[in-house]
Amino acid sequence: MPTDLRPRLHREVTSFVRRSARMRDSQRRAYEGQLGGLVLDVPQGGLRTSVADDAAVLDLAATFGRVAPVVVEIGCGPGDSLVPMARARPDVDVLAFEVFEPAAAALVARLVREDVTNVRVAPVDAVAGLERLVPPASLTEVWTFFPDPWPKLKHHKRRLVDPAFADLVASRLVPGGRWRLATDWAEYADQMRTVVSGHAAFVALPEDREDRPVTRFERRGTAEDRAIADLVYRRVA
Ligand SMILES: C[S@@+](CC[C@H](N)C(=O)[O-])C[C@H]1O[C@@H](n2cnc3c(N)ncnc32)[C@H](O)[C@@H]1O
Repeated sequence: MPTDLRPRLHREVTSFVRRSARMRDSQRRAYEGQLGGLVLDVPQGGLRTSVADDAAVLDLAATFGRVAPVVVEIGCGPGDSLVPMARARPDVDVLAFEVFEPAAAALVARLVREDVTNVRVAPVDAVAGLERLVPPASLTEVWTFFPDPWPKLKHHKRRLVDPAFADLVASRLVPGGRWRLATDWAEYADQMRTVVSGHAAFVALPEDREDRPVTRFERRGTAEDRAIADLVYRRVA
């Protein structure tokens, strides 16, 4: 496989590039009005999307106002999967990481409009967020749906799913917890299978989309004749 799968020690290469984030004033006001509420007020490092080295680990029960199983979605975009999936599971809480502010703002507006109360949004890099904000062995599931595919070989180092990230996800899942991934890029799906199936902490379960709704990214992949892979892994004890 041509992809560079060596673990990255400090992730100076991120899975996203900074994009200019224009929002309407009303959208920005509504989003910022939720800071400390639906939007977690994460202590930032040098960049808007980074997490301060000394940020405190979240008290998940305090964050959600109850004790319940917690799922993390990484790169939720405007919540096309997240909102229906969270609404269908009122007994579960979902922590959503999204670095692109307009997408996070659209998600927050939708949560308010649809009165979905079991989601909190962390508008920071999910790698730093999982490392610094999420307690070890605290998540029942992690969802990684349509992560940016970075198809060019020279960009493969930006792909989220690599051995170091699999170590991180394994450390945050409870034993028996599941990691669900979806992609429309066959070659990235192969990379995911290699990385996660080859990881001692995971066993592969049958591939299954379960309750994952069709989103814009899936529709685009299907329209361009790409097959969708829905991978499921269990964290072994
Ligand atoms: C291709 S979109 C998929 C969105 C959504 N999961 C879906 O299926 O509709 C990937 C999203 O991941 C976000 N993203 C990429 N790397 C991230 C990271 N390290 N932390 C948080 N969000 C990230 C991007 O900003 C983008 O919104």
